[in-house]
Amino acid sequence: MVREWDPRNASSAEIASLLDTLNAVLAADLPQDPPWRESSLREYLSEVMPGERRISWIAQAEPAEDGTPGLLLGHVNVLLLGGIGVLEVLVHPAARRTGLGRELVRVSARRVWDEGFQSIGVEVVGDTPAVAFYESLGFAREYVETRSVLDLNAVDWPALAEMATGVGAGYHLEFCPGGPPDELIEAYARAKAEVRDVDDGELRPSSYDPERLRDSLTTLHRRGMKPYIVLALHEQTGEVAGLTEVVVPAQHPTRADQYDTIVVRDHRGYGIDRAIKARMLLELRSAEPELVEVQTWNAQANEAMLKVNAELGYRPDREWCEYGVDVAELVHRLDPPR
Ligand SMILES: CC(C)(COP(=O)(O)OP(=O)(O)OC[C@H]1O[C@@H](n2cnc3c(N)ncnc32)[C@H](O)[C@@H]1OP(=O)(O)O)[C@@H](O)C(=O)NCCC(=O)NCCS
Repeated sequence: MVREWDPRNASSAEIASLLDTLNAVLAADLPQDPPWRESSLREYLSEVMPGERRISWIAQAEPAEDGTPGLLLGHVNVLLLGGIGVLEVLVHPAARRTGLGRELVRVSARRVWDEGFQSIGVEVVGDTPAVAFYESLGFAREYVETRSVLDLNAVDWPALAEMATGVGAGYHLEFCPGGPPDELIEAYARAKAEVRDVDDGELRPSSYDPERLRDSLTTLHRRGMKPYIVLALHEQTGEVAGLTEVVVPAQHPTRADQYDTIVVRDHRGYGIDRAIKARMLLELRSAEPELVEVQTWNAQANEAMLKVNAELGYRPDREWCEYGVDVAELVHRLDPPR
């Protein structure tokens, strides 16, 4: 029932069926999250950074007698990057607790092993069945973040406009829809590299050199995800002193994702974090009229950033955890040698 599946040449009916299953999963596990749309979903599932590969499988029920394709019961994909395989597993709520999730992990873990990778990581949302599922398979919790959500309808816009101008003398802010301008790519990459945030989890690696940064912007665009950036520029040196990145995905354009926010060490204490995030929200309000929420992920230890987010109106929502497992152990557990 489980078969390898390539979204690049899948039928439109299969893509639509996957979307239905994804939305059934969201409705069951994260009912406050907006449902996904089909827009650029194929590209979202297919496009990867250079040097990375994503392999997918689906499980589909038998077709009906009149030939109507069967319900897409489950989906798994694994992204092979660096030395790790990053797993995403979905089982339709109507097909849960029948062993399908375990079977999808078995098939994909076997491939990760065959490809010579040593570990598997997965993002697990707190307070969902996935926690007990991955723990039952021997995955261990390696890192925890808090997801927070900002409701734009509850924002105090005049206060926000004030925050956006509250940056120290000697800096100015620049809004860059689509990504940093080419002449600033190197300075941008330097800012990201300097603050290689120890709090960053492993599953969402940032881009630290100009070439990788360009690749990651191209990949985002191809996947239907529109990046917006606000920069704080240090006027004296022309250096990027701070940056904040938000992505509006075509698949759920009412809820944007806040990616990295970085203030370079020498430029901390001048109100840059608060100002760039406030400016971003003001700009998004006119650039993306459909947008109603922004979500962000922070390490629980990152108190300074959590404080600014609370001032902006972000409310903590869920724990977002990274789990990991040794591939050999997982394969041995799920596919013991006979
Ligand atoms: C996690 C998930 C893949 C599990 O799929 P599944 O097919 O129900 O899992 P299985 O039937 O293979 O379960 C294997 C084991 O996991 C554990 N498990 C799974 N669901 C569980 C639950 N709700 N409570 C407790 N244990 C659970 C059990 O030990 C189970 O074995 P058992 O049924 O013999 O007791 C499925 O719930 C899912 O798709 N969740 C959404 C995942 C996701 O990524 N969501 C992203 C947006 S929220």
